[in-house]
Amino acid sequence: DLPARVRIHEVGARDGLQNEKSTVPTEVKAEFVRRLADAGLTTIEATSFVHPKWVPQLADAEELFPLVRDLPGVHLPVLVPNARGLDRALALRATRVAVFASATESFAKANLNRTVDESLAVFAPVVARAKDEGAHVRGYVSMCFGDPWEGAVPIAQVVRVCRALVDMGCDELSLGDTIGVATPGHVLELLAALNEQGVPTPLLGVHFHDTYGQALSNTLAALQHGVTTVDASAGGLGGCPFAKSATGNLATEDLVWMLQGLGIDSGVDLARLTATSVWMAEQLGRPSPSRAVRALGKT
Ligand code: HMG
Ligand code: MG
Repeated sequence: DLPARVRIHEVGARDGLQNEKSTVPTEVKAEFVRRLADAGLTTIEATSFVHPKWVPQLADAEELFPLVRDLPGVHLPVLVPNARGLDRALALRATRVAVFASATESFAKANLNRTVDESLAVFAPVVARAKDEGAHVRGYVSMCFGDPWEGAVPIAQVVRVCRALVDMGCDELSLGDTIGVATPGHVLELLAALNEQGVPTPLLGVHFHDTYGQALSNTLAALQHGVTTVDASAGGLGGCPFAKSATGNLATEDLVWMLQGLGIDSGVDLARLTATSVWMAEQLGRPSPSRAVRALGKT
């Protein structure tokens, strides 16, 4: 059984841009977010309040966020890696934040400079305070399927981190295939294991990168399992600077094309979205990797 409606969590402005080498002007980022909202996306991850030296592309979070935060009817989650990040986000009246954990030690170290347990210990008070302040909290778990240093990731390891984030009070989780190695059977196995360990499907979103071209197949498997929150990036932009071999996210256009074919409502206007990705590709100086954008776009 497939859901009637899917909520797309658009990550183009954050995951999509964080890996770009040349600095994208703040006003271009703001225009990107506005155009995404105009295309009907209602959850648009805007930026990260991380250390500016770690992710220079998003060092303008303080300038960008106020330019977009009052878009009507749009949620604008932001990434916060620690208490300092949460302070910065709350100071700008952010109402949705995301902490980001890893299922593997190697990536926890590379991405957060902490062990898995140290990073969970950092997140616990961050989640508690965010909830006290009335914010909605997402918990990302990276490397849910494979890790570039450690290879295949045992499901029990992923479940443990997911449970810890749920126990802290996260309102939703996003299961990250950071380097895009998942296949549909593996996705179903993880979802079933999470359900068995008391993490219900309504709490779960999926976050696929498209390295091996499996992101859509993986998404379809997750939808068939009952997942209704899907992360995607306009034009297929993206990648993580701290994970070698990470490529772009599932392209939002590829996702919307499939959802339309299945009769699943996402509220997105595909023509407007494609025009946005074509425009963004022009800003970045190279074509979108998305097949749907290439097929539907005029350039
Ligand atoms: P650290 O060097 O261990 O930081 O980095 P620290 O806690 O030791 O602090 C050192 C200094 O940094 C201090 O300043 C802090 O105030 C400052 P000093 O006292 O020395 O002057 N500092 C900060 N400044 C601004 N904002 C902050 C902040 N925190 C500390 N938030 C840290 C630890 C977590 C900060 C660093 O590792 C970091 O910023 N990492 C971010 C990594 C990142 O953004 N990765 C990409 C996002 S995750 C992803 O893409 C995966 C995902 O898409 C899902 C998937 O695909 O799997 C979500
Ligand atoms: Mg990602």
